[in-house]
Amino acid sequence: MQIIREQTAAAASAKAFEIVADMARHNQLQVMGLATGSTPLDLYKLICASDLDFSRTSSVNLDEYVGLKPTDPQSYHHFMQKHLFSVKPFKESFFPDGTNPDAGAVAKAYDRILADHPIDLQVLGIGRNGHIGFNEPGTAFDSHTHRVALTPSTIAANARFFAKPELVPHYAYTMGIASIMAAKQIILLAFGKEKAAAIRATIKGPVTTAVPASILQRHPNVTVVLDAAAASQI
Ligand code: GLP
Repeated sequence: MQIIREQTAAAASAKAFEIVADMARHNQLQVMGLATGSTPLDLYKLICASDLDFSRTSSVNLDEYVGLKPTDPQSYHHFMQKHLFSVKPFKESFFPDGTNPDAGAVAKAYDRILADHPIDLQVLGIGRNGHIGFNEPGTAFDSHTHRVALTPSTIAANARFFAKPELVPHYAYTMGIASIMAAKQIILLAFGKEKAAAIRATIKGPVTTAVPASILQRHPNVTVVLDAAAASQI
């Protein structure tokens, strides 16, 4: 793992942008894996403000809530549209189909999409409990796309995006840990002191399903980009 520490989230996002821009300019971004959450927002702003061309890049998102339509303002589909795709069009963009209640069918369809679109660069955030995508602690390392019941702590953390906590869906579809590990290159972004313990466990702790992100220690090409607060326990 390569660790990059910057003082601020803005400076860290600029470093992540350099990695993305370098790959895009060298035509190494046929497929980009994207994440939602507040962490990658500055990176997406930098991409939007750049002259980079993503019209030949496909995107695959990590996850989607079960039960929300793509047009629902709380859906991850809508989030990506708003913060990236409306300004910087991609060739095509894929998400697990949150409108389909048949988890087996959604998983099969998304795994097929991922097999047909091998990820060159996956952008990741991290949950306070070390989750990546929506792979909560305990998720098998050999998992592919699946439906998950969100933990109370993840529901509480994501409630800030919803008008009322009761509106946060309790289930999501997510790429599995094996799906994420199949990416050729990964950038994990973490900002703020509430991520410091998860980052310590991810980088310094044992590789354990109790901390899903710890598996990244076994990936050959991971860059962890941190602000000072997220790096404060390593
Ligand atoms: C959600 C997303 C994750 C994201 C995490 C952290 O659970 N499914 O992909 O990494 O939130 O979000 P934030 O960046 O807002 O802290």
